[in-house]
Amino acid sequence: MRTSTIVIAGISAFLAFGPASGAYAQQSSPELTIVEKWLGSGHADRDSPSFTHWNAEGAIPQNCAVCHSGEGFREFYGLDGSPVGEIAHPIPTGGVIDCATCHEDGAEDIAAVSFPSGIEIATPGSVATCLTCHQGRQSGVNISRATDGMDDDTVNPELTFLNPHYAVAAATQFGSEVKGAYEYPGKDYMGRFAHVPAFSTCADCHDPHSLEVVAVTCVGCHQTDDVRAIRTSRGDYDGDGDTSTGIYLEIANLTARLSEAIEAYASEISGTPIVYADRFPYFFNAGTEMTPANRYNAWTPNLLRAAYNFQFISKDKGAYSHNPHYAIQVLHDSIESLANAGNLGIEIELGERP
Ligand code: HEC
Ligand code: HEC
Ligand code: HEC
Ligand code: HEC
Ligand code: HEC
Repeated sequence: MRTSTIVIAGISAFLAFGPASGAYAQQSSPELTIVEKWLGSGHADRDSPSFTHWNAEGAIPQNCAVCHSGEGFREFYGLDGSPVGEIAHPIPTGGVIDCATCHEDGAEDIAAVSFPSGIEIATPGSVATCLTCHQGRQSGVNISRATDGMDDDTVNPELTFLNPHYAVAAATQFGSEVKGAYEYPGKDYMGRFAHVPAFSTCADCHDPHSLEVVAVTCVGCHQTDDVRAIRTSRGDYDGDGDTSTGIYLEIANLTARLSEAIEAYASEISGTPIVYADRFPYFFNAGTEMTPANRYNAWTPNLLRAAYNFQFISKDKGAYSHNPHYAIQVLHDSIESLANAGNLGIEIELGERP
């Protein structure tokens, strides 16, 4: 009884998202399992801020709708017969990432996905969908532009924090090919993390419906189903002498060190203490109430670049799997750039740079 109740609720909820999705709900059990998996995923979570943020206005603006509604996505790529590359009008609220977002005719034939840097990835195949929505909204190129020609370590009141946006997995995975992070001049950066052929795309590691990482499939090669314990790289990147932990921990340790460096730099060089909180606009003047009005306001170019990189890496919870060496390079160079600015009064240990 329990199972059939779930199934019925599944079908009706799923038909409610429009006729296009009906085609994928054949009456056999494997498809019903797909519907259940999808219903339990973030893509179907109608109550999430990702889908309710615009409820008061009743419509999602064009520049947000491509990623925050299946209808917006279809219109952007012209899958609904509209002109390609634009959304002509605000999209009504109430939609989620429905089945037809990824399965509408034409979705697998999207010719190229353009990233915020302006760089395009050609013939992305069935993961064109994932790359479109999980690419973030800023790029290292924009950070360069915003800070161009300014003195690196002088506070400039024209600067404000630029947020990379959220769940930027595709920008991390393609690394230097799409320039999601701010890349320091004169340094080399990892391109796409190819991993291994059978586990190289988003949908190879993530079930595209539940969105979960299918960790049992990692065991054959990595001898563990604890994805955070996976390690193949030999280097000691965080300089703690321990290379037995998962690559996850090396990156977590470096991220924590970058956070310390940002705080020390803000106090010592910018002259205004900074504090981070996991809420918009993220960096605040320390000692004030954390409201948008008290957003941090003593940015130097050097501090802004490092803070952007901190947010870029820490807002991708899977950076250690999407492109571990890119993440480590970006963290190293950010910490080093702050440390080189002067005496921060803290000890900064850096291990090897991959
Ligand atoms: C039309 C835009 C769009 C497409 C296409 C899309 N996503 Fe998402 N994805 C989102 C949004 C928005 C969220 C946040 C949902 C929420 O807040 O509940 C999300 C959340 C996620 C999450 C996090 C789940 C969680 O519980 O927080 C994962 C993992 C994910 N997507 C992977 C993928 C993969 C893999 C693909 C391609 C097969 C994909 N996404 C395609 C927009 C999209
Ligand atoms: C390139 C795709 C993309 C565009 C364009 C985009 N977003 Fe998002 N946004 C996402 C994804 C993906 C998430 C989900 C992150 C997660 O929760 O895993 C998200 C999450 C959010 C959230 C929830 C944040 C939270 O803390 O849970 C808000 C609010 C939001 N976006 C607002 C906007 C606004 C406003 C715009 C337009 C100005 C916009 N987004 C444009 C991809 C996009
Ligand atoms: C975020 C994108 C996305 C969404 C949303 C989505 N799918 Fe899929 N679906 C995929 C991908 C990717 C595959 C695998 C295609 C491949 O392997 O070539 C797939 C495969 C399938 C298959 C083939 C069987 C299989 O397991 O490979 C069916 C049937 C299917 N989806 C139905 C649905 C239904 C029904 C919904 C809505 C409840 C849905 N999908 C929502 C991306 C998505
Ligand atoms: C090599 C396997 C692998 C590939 C390829 C991969 N991921 Fe991931 N992904 C992971 C792992 C592992 C995590 C982190 C799980 C954890 O530690 O909680 C993760 C986390 C995520 C998250 C954050 C989920 C959350 O709970 O906040 C999103 C979103 C995501 N991946 C989307 C994608 C997209 C989009 C792609 C393709 C551009 C992709 N992933 C490619 C393995 C992979
Ligand atoms: C067919 C074998 C194989 C499978 C299956 C596999 N991997 Fe890997 N993985 C590798 C190899 C080989 C490397 C080293 C790649 C390199 O450095 O270029 C690696 C590297 C990694 C790394 C980076 C580790 C480090 O120390 O740099 C992570 C994280 C990872 N894999 C996650 C996963 C996850 C998550 C899965 C399951 C969804 C998975 N892998 C499945 C072979 C595999």
